[in-house]
Formats: sequence, C-alpha cells, structure tokens
Amino acid sequence: MVEGVILADNLDVLRRLPSACLDLVYIDPPFGTRQVRRLDAIRTGAGEKARNGFAGRRYPFEVVSSHHYSDEMGLDEYLGFLHERLAEIHRALSPVGSLYLHLDFHAAHYGRLLLDELFGPDRFLNEVIWAYDYGGRARDRWPRKHDNILWYSKSARWTFNTEDIDRIPYMAPGLVGPEKTALGKLPTDTWWLTIVPTSGAERTGYPTQKPLKLLERIIRASSNPRDLVADFFCGSGTTGWQRSGWAGVTFWWTTTPRPSA
Ligand SMILES: C[S@@+](CC[C@H](N)C(=O)[O-])C[C@H]1O[C@@H](n2cnc3c(N)ncnc32)[C@H](O)[C@@H]1O
Repeated sequence: MVEGVILADNLDVLRRLPSACLDLVYIDPPFGTRQVRRLDAIRTGAGEKARNGFAGRRYPFEVVSSHHYSDEMGLDEYLGFLHERLAEIHRALSPVGSLYLHLDFHAAHYGRLLLDELFGPDRFLNEVIWAYDYGGRARDRWPRKHDNILWYSKSARWTFNTEDIDRIPYMAPGLVGPEKTALGKLPTDTWWLTIVPTSGAERTGYPTQKPLKLLERIIRASSNPRDLVADFFCGSGTTGWQRSGWAGVTFWWTTTPRPSA
C-alpha cells in the first residue's frame, strides 16, 4: 500500500516529523560523484541524431525520455548535507527501527563515520554488499561492481524477520540433500542481484534506479505489516513500488521534482 509521495526537500519534511515515528528507513542519496546523473532513453530507427553501431554502421535515433539529478556537491557540502538528514532520521526512527544507507565507494567510508557518530558504533548491524555484474570492465584495476548498504539500528532491539527473507540456491546442493536444496539458504551480507534490466518491465528510465528485488528483501526483513517505511530519496519510487505482497506496509517518501522529458 502506498501512502504518499511528498514532493519537497526531504530536510524540510524530516524536521516536521515527530520523533520515533518511523519503523524502517531506506535511503539512496546522491553518492557524492560530483557529476550530474543523467539517463536518456533512445529509440533507434528514426530521428536526427546518429550513433555508431556494429561494423561501423550509423543508426539514426531520437531521445524519448531524459531524466537527471544533480550530484555535484563538493565534499564538505556533501557531508554536511548527509549529516543533517541522517541526524533527523535518527531522531525519527522508532526504538526498534533501523536505517539502510545505500552508497558506493565514493562515500561509504564517510557514511560509516557519520553513522557511528550519530547512532553509535554499537548500533552498526552490518554492511550489505550489493554485487552486480554489468557494463564494461576496467583493465587497470579490479572492476568496481558493488554498492555498500550500511545498516544501523536505533537501539539494541530491531526488527529482523528471518522467516520472511527470500532464499537463494546452495552453491553445492549435492552436499546438503534434496530437502535443503529445495528450500534454499538464507542470503548472507553479500547480495548478488542483477541491476534493473535494460528492457525489463520495472525499468522506468530513471538514472541510478535500484531493483525492486533489493528493496523487497530489505522491507520484508526489516519491517512488519502496518509499519511506517520511509524513503527520503525515492528517485523513480522503487521503495514504493516493490511488489513483495507485503500488505499493510506504508510508504512515505519524498523526492525533488522530476525534470520533464
Ligand atoms: C540515487 S537517486 C535515488 C534512486 C532511487 N532509489 C530509485 O530506485 O529510483 C537520489 C534521488 O534523490 C533525490 N534528491 C536529492 N536531494 C534531495 C533532497 N534534498 N530531497 C529529496 N530528494 C532529493 C534526487 O533528485 C534523486 O532522485
């Protein structure tokens, strides 16, 4: 159930929230890349622009949608931006609530320090590595193919529904027998999940869109029916659209205005 979308700067919204009202927060803020994150969806076969294709052939194309958001802050400004939002999120989390902060190599190490300061190092539950395998591979280093999701709890108690987590195949099913093989095993803190497929139904054309499966796993594990779940950087709205069948979960998230196509 989607409760609502608030179109606003999330800091204004966060400051108005009562303390201890949120049961789960997932945020996927700008990563501190110092770039504009843009995604153009194109249709080939017609249009005034042209791109190179196989065997040097040129293909005409037209841009059918274009979305972007700014991720251009310098480091100090970026850390200040994150800090004041994370402080409000900490205040707004319920005693059994938890926060998943989604970053990558650009700022995951800063995120850990900020959360240690605000939540306390003892409230660090884990760092989930979302591993994917997509796109080109660097030739001068190990290719960077994972994001970091820092998970902190508000207190020493937190929601974690082991029974509701989707299971994954055993790597060596021959060693565990047919019953366990059929059931699968619980994922660890390294999640191999594909990025949103280029031609998949869940594709919205929004840059840095996260897969529904990722949010489904987080929401099922870390919230209960009728909990209040918030995503303050919703982008294309993945958190609100995850289709876990988790009836009763309420979503509440904010975004900056979508640029027009
Ligand atoms: C990494 S994207 C989120 C992508 C999203 N998880 C998805 O799956 O589509 C970050 C989003 O946060 C938004 N954003 C940045 N600053 C914001 C702010 N102060 N308040 C609300 N949203 C903000 C950006 O416009 C962008 O849509």
